[in-house]
Amino acid sequence: MYYGADYYPEHWPQERWETDARLMREAHINLVRMGEFAWSLFEPQQEHYDWDWLKRAIDILAAHGISTVLGTPTATPPAWLCQAYPGIMAVERNSQRVTFGERRQYCPTNASYRALSRGIVTAMAEQFAGNPHVVAWQLDNEFGGHHPRCYCPECQCAFQDWLLQRYGTLAALREAWGTHFWSHDYTNWAQIPLPVDSNGVSNPCLELDFYRFASEQWVAYQQLQIEALRRVIPAHQRITHNLMGFNFQEIDYFDLARELDFVSWDNYPIFQTGDPAYIALNHTAMRGLKDMPFWVMEEQSGPSGWQVMSRQPRPGQIRLWAYQAIAHGADAIVYFRWRTCRFNTEEYWHGILEHHGQPRRRYYEVQQMGQELARVGEKLEGAMPPKAAAIIMSYDDIRTLRLQPGARGLAYNDIISSYFRALHQLGIPVDIVPPNADLSLYKLVVAPILHLVTQEWADNLSNYVNQGGTLWVGARSGVKDTSNRVVDSPLPGLLAELCGVEVEEYDAIGRASTCEVELDKALLGLGELRLAGHTWCDILQPRGDTETLAYYASDYYTGKPALTRTRYGLGTAFYCGFMTDTGTMLPLVRYLVESTGLEPWSGLPEGVEVARRAKEGIELTYLLNHTTEPQSVALPGAMFELLTQTNTSSSIELGPYGLAILSPVAIDKLS
Ligand code: GLA
Ligand code: ZN
Repeated sequence: MYYGADYYPEHWPQERWETDARLMREAHINLVRMGEFAWSLFEPQQEHYDWDWLKRAIDILAAHGISTVLGTPTATPPAWLCQAYPGIMAVERNSQRVTFGERRQYCPTNASYRALSRGIVTAMAEQFAGNPHVVAWQLDNEFGGHHPRCYCPECQCAFQDWLLQRYGTLAALREAWGTHFWSHDYTNWAQIPLPVDSNGVSNPCLELDFYRFASEQWVAYQQLQIEALRRVIPAHQRITHNLMGFNFQEIDYFDLARELDFVSWDNYPIFQTGDPAYIALNHTAMRGLKDMPFWVMEEQSGPSGWQVMSRQPRPGQIRLWAYQAIAHGADAIVYFRWRTCRFNTEEYWHGILEHHGQPRRRYYEVQQMGQELARVGEKLEGAMPPKAAAIIMSYDDIRTLRLQPGARGLAYNDIISSYFRALHQLGIPVDIVPPNADLSLYKLVVAPILHLVTQEWADNLSNYVNQGGTLWVGARSGVKDTSNRVVDSPLPGLLAELCGVEVEEYDAIGRASTCEVELDKALLGLGELRLAGHTWCDILQPRGDTETLAYYASDYYTGKPALTRTRYGLGTAFYCGFMTDTGTMLPLVRYLVESTGLEPWSGLPEGVEVARRAKEGIELTYLLNHTTEPQSVALPGAMFELLTQTNTSSSIELGPYGLAILSPVAIDKLS
């Protein structure tokens, strides 16, 4: 298994490189990422290149058994380039052009920047394609960070062209966008504006298309780098990009991931302190992009921050976070960064080593894990979680709900994560999938919200249920069509027939208000259960044979259906009209899970996480203790623990921030 660090040899005197390589080897590090911000050193003047220092660094590391991932340096166009080509600088939504001084200041549409990027990527590829120590390439760095959308004149023309391709005629665009409203009818393509601040609140249909366009510009920009590389590099040098997790939603990551050999992403758990489930959600979403194992290209290894730093990771926590990533599908861990930088923006973003470069506590923790992975890493990589439940995520929904949440405090991430957490807490393996995914492998599919629905997606869900699947659809679904107009049939629109329900009325109660819901005791067998919903109430009208499982118990809609279940073909579809949080919903989700035959993990102590990966018919169970206290976890039976190479009894003790990797059979049988 690759185990590594992001290394910036250019930040340190060359005499130090040998020491770094030795310390890395002693920590069982076998991979570094280098070069992704070094354009000003690679090409100090236009078309005058210097690759020698990087070749030297690669060689020194290789002599210690360390391979290299090379980053293309296009995230940081140097000062000479920005001065010579001012048109490459991105324009903000407030119509101001970005100036030089940070990074990622470029427009991905700009033709000059595309040509310059092709130039540097090709020059670099020609130097390193034959280098046996280079195993992979990272394109650029965190596309969309800092300036996710550009509003420059070139982007405006490109957007107009994009619309011409999409709609064909102005009549079709006018229909799709509802432009009779407020005299927005365009009589030529050049009139179509960008949604800049000076427009005020612009047309949500235009805004959604602009989001889609801007996302596609990044995908196209990435594609030009992929093609430039592929022309030169051998197939065994694989291509990736470092994405930013579920949390970063400016680019449709399903699209971005498509042409990559594998996904990697940058995991900084400290920004989600105390919430391992949210980190798990991020890992899960990144694994789901290609439905295959991923890499963590930047894994937190110390206190982090630019002006103010986070708290220190507690002893054991760096190791635990890294194992958590592996538990959810990571096949490589690369820490950010090797040694803490002494200068410029990230002086306080700590790496494995302190500024002074001498091994201390965090280094020894990384070393401990390195030793462990050297022993068992091979047994872990390549495995995938078993298919059980899926949560549907849609970038169109992220965008439409950001433009028009509809209710105060309605937040896409909260809705998705409330369901994810419930399933995760019950120990059910979850995948995060797009609405057009093949759902047939899952016993349970949850669409916490599917606000914008295309006919293709509705058909995909109907087929899944028709063939015996169980689908749960959350409130405020089926509201929008592909263009972001409200549908012209009773809600949930294209999902009404499948769910056997109509929304009679809705009430946007907002996050700060609650509604009472009473579950039907006889139907659910859950005992007396009243719960509080929040944010939204869809007041339901069941159709035909649809059963009502819960009723509202407050306000003028007391007694009206709040949750329904219907048979559709061989399967079952639920529609839940209210929103709530994980704790409140847990009994309902447990009921749902059990109704599909999936088995929740029972008796998991609070703060202990379970995750599973299987390959070659053998499933490894990861138990991760995210608390500061020792925890005892009951097991289904005696198991074999990989890290300690011991057999357990029917329970296991986990130390503070401790973990166990359990196999049903002894490890030697795994190989
Ligand atoms: C991101 C970037 C890194 C670095 C870290 C810390 O993840 O990819 O280059 O800037 O953040 O700020
Ligand atoms: Zn632009």
